Amino acid sequence: MSERGRFISLEGGEGVGKSTQVKALADALRQRGLDVLVTREPGGSEGAERIRELLLTGSQERWGARAEALLFAAARADHVEKAIEPALKSGKWVISDRFVDSSLAYQGGAGGLGIEAVRAINAFGIDENFPDCTLILTLEEGGERARARDLNGSDRIGGRSDDYHRKVEAAFHIIAAEDPDRVKLVDASGAADAVTLRILEAIKELLQ
Ligand SMILES: Nc1ncnc2c1ncn2[C@@H]1O[C@H](COP(=O)(O)OP(=O)(O)OP(=O)(O)O)[C@@H](O)[C@H]1O
Ligand SMILES: [Mg+2]
Repeated sequence: MSERGRFISLEGGEGVGKSTQVKALADALRQRGLDVLVTREPGGSEGAERIRELLLTGSQERWGARAEALLFAAARADHVEKAIEPALKSGKWVISDRFVDSSLAYQGGAGGLGIEAVRAINAFGIDENFPDCTLILTLEEGGERARARDLNGSDRIGGRSDDYHRKVEAAFHIIAAEDPDRVKLVDASGAADAVTLRILEAIKELLQ
């Protein structure tokens, strides 16, 4: 039996550099000899990828707020059961590009359901398998990075109003303040390499 791996999630609003940093962090951990699974949400398992399609395409009216939150939670439950837990059990380190805190911030904080209600359905869905460490990347001009990249338009969630995205950002700060042992804010400004160093500093206790 190998020692259980560690579970790290990267969070933050649109275009703050999550996917860039997930890749850089995976490289850094592999250089330390760790076996790493990189995954992303919504998705990360066959069933969850099917639900991803339903969530990210179609009109804004396709899902009401509660159905949307439950679909994200259902996708995440499958992701944990089929991909994350088996990897952790086999000793792999798992890095997820978004996880439960995106639901808390988007569906809970910005979508009007409240952080607590969304935490409750997700705690059930993931059977309390919260990450060992969550890094929320913060950046004022994340929207500009995302717009420069997505010239042909953003998805059903990314395309919501500036006001929605401001509420997401505010909710991420509340989440970090409420759960300081698990959740850390990381400044995502400046060069990608500098951000990676800040991330490695933030997870140094896990690396000991
Ligand atoms: N430190 C950085 N400085 C400048 N540009 C960056 C930096 N990090 C990432 N980028 C660029 O900004 C854009 C958004 O980065 P990335 O896709 O990693 O963000 P994301 O948080 O995953 O976005 P999304 O929420 O849309 O998935 C990309 O074009 C990426 O190459
Ligand atoms: Mg991304």
